[in-house]
Amino acid sequence: MQQATAIAHPNIALIKYWGKRDSRLNLPAVGSLSITLDALCTRTRVCFDSTLGADSFLLDGVGADARRVTACLDHLREAARIDTRARVESSNDFPTAAGLASSASGFAALVVAADAALGLGLPAEKLSMHARRGSGSAARSIFGGFVEMSRGRRQDGTDAVARPLLAAEDWPLEVVIVITDSDAKSLGSSAAMMSTESAPYYAAWVRSSHPDLRAAREAVLAHDFDALANVSVHSCLKMHALMMAARPPVMYWNAATVACVRRITALREAGLAVFYTIDAGPQVKAICQPEARDAVEHALHSIPGVAELRRSGLGGAAHVAEGAA
Ligand code: DP6
Repeated sequence: MQQATAIAHPNIALIKYWGKRDSRLNLPAVGSLSITLDALCTRTRVCFDSTLGADSFLLDGVGADARRVTACLDHLREAARIDTRARVESSNDFPTAAGLASSASGFAALVVAADAALGLGLPAEKLSMHARRGSGSAARSIFGGFVEMSRGRRQDGTDAVARPLLAAEDWPLEVVIVITDSDAKSLGSSAAMMSTESAPYYAAWVRSSHPDLRAAREAVLAHDFDALANVSVHSCLKMHALMMAARPPVMYWNAATVACVRRITALREAGLAVFYTIDAGPQVKAICQPEARDAVEHALHSIPGVAELRRSGLGGAAHVAEGAA
């Protein structure tokens, strides 16, 4: 038996990945930029066992569909030249599949654990490529802090990988995660992404992502909070507008999502260093300077429909859990 356990953290995109240039290889249509959250965590144990006839997958203690796990492990098995099936056990300390990027941390942890179990010792860039094939956003969760993911140009996708842009400790922003609904979302991001290619602005979305990415990269490197806030909110709203303009339309927001957006906008207008982003779900993430965090939490927790607030700093590259089998 070859086994290892890994820990990975979700990331949230400030410049959004939305759309695929190749769905078979899961290549993104646009580059993206994210922050990895150190307070939320996925722990995944992979055990390759020659007595197994098929991969099995336990997610938060419940048997789950192993197809995406198998597809991801197949590439690592190919690299290790083995055909042994695996038992995979994964658990999240936050709501799964509710727009909190559990697939990002999930596939990052899976790849890191499988790499260690098989003794491959792949470099981080290769791990990022394997994670991307599982879920595009997972490529970024291999790294901590601020991370940039390239769209890449090559057809085989070997250049569609993430790279660290700035270490968390170099600009220690904070995130208040506002959970407005902890149920699993009704439509997964892969399916929603495919349907939005029917939106009339899809080509404009792809085209306009390049200047957004450049502006965000420059803002991160210059620690320019206002510039990062402006371009991040723009990328977020543009992505959701694209979903709403698709046929059929996709709408992830609920009433509390909208109320949080309005409140955070008002706080920012009143001079607080905070902005919001929203992924494929109804949760809102408020990104702020550390000194603004208490005021942001205070303003958000009383909004009707807000079920829970979680706070996080940045950090957390995916890693093997020392001492765990
Ligand atoms: C809105 O990475 O979940 O969170 O590659 O199809 O698995 P697949 O999509 P996924 O999409 C993430 C979409 C997003 C934006 C982002 O994280 O960049």
